[in-house]
Amino acid sequence: MLMIYFSGTGNSKYIAKRFSALMNADCHSIEEKLDFDKFLSGTDVIAVCYPVYGSCVPRIMREFVAKHRASFEGKKLIVLCTQMLASGDGARAFARLLPGCDNQVIYAEHFRMPNNICNFFLFPIRERERIRKTKAADKKIEIICSNIKKGICKKRGWNILSAAVGKTQNIFFPKIEEKERSSFKADQDCILCGKCVNSCPMHNLEIIDGRIQQKDNCTLCYRCVNLCPQKAVTVWLSAKTKRQYKGIC
Ligand SMILES: Cc1cc2nc3c(=O)[nH]c(=O)nc-3n(C[C@H](O)[C@H](O)[C@H](O)COP(=O)(O)O)c2cc1C
Repeated sequence: MLMIYFSGTGNSKYIAKRFSALMNADCHSIEEKLDFDKFLSGTDVIAVCYPVYGSCVPRIMREFVAKHRASFEGKKLIVLCTQMLASGDGARAFARLLPGCDNQVIYAEHFRMPNNICNFFLFPIRERERIRKTKAADKKIEIICSNIKKGICKKRGWNILSAAVGKTQNIFFPKIEEKERSSFKADQDCILCGKCVNSCPMHNLEIIDGRIQQKDNCTLCYRCVNLCPQKAVTVWLSAKTKRQYKGIC
């Protein structure tokens, strides 16, 4: 089994790593420079893990799947995704990237994890929530692994209600996502340390003429916002960051 994941701020990475350790699976971030077609072709079961954005798969993951589509043919899929509250059919959104692939999904599950949007007044990041959600996720991973080993198939997000909840978000999020491709902003507190530039999974940023310039390729993962030592960075929502999310691994 091979696990591939994208994680902006660590939640999905945590799930991917824990799951892979229990299932004895190879685990790789899609940001690694690997011959993924070779890796994907050489396995029967592909597990994926990603954060849900507005009931959608993040653009960086969608682009990865589009690039390696042929290597997903005929594989069994396990879809794990992380979210702050609810996405409806956030896991099924992955299956939709591979039309005709529905019946190959052998397990799909959602994990409630801490919110990583740190510049919005609703759902503020709290330490006790981080601990509680991490413990609950650990238990859930054990159950999933045990079920998979017993051949039990569960597909969270595959019923009509989930689809309806998903629709309330995934009809408008793609428009936001497109509009916000160039929403990165660094304010006067920026010290040009380059942390955002070097950590951006989309290679969206560079320092030119003493300013951070963007290539309109933001995937809204919030890594830069949460990492900035000056809390000088925002994406999407322009409110100043109060408490950053430092992830769980
Ligand atoms: C742009 C964006 C959109 C999000 N949309 C949702 C959402 O629709 N529902 C939800 O429950 N959480 C949502 N979240 C929260 C994340 O899915 C959640 O914090 C996730 O675990 C972050 O994973 P990561 O640390 O692996 O990046 C969103 C986060 C971001 C950055």
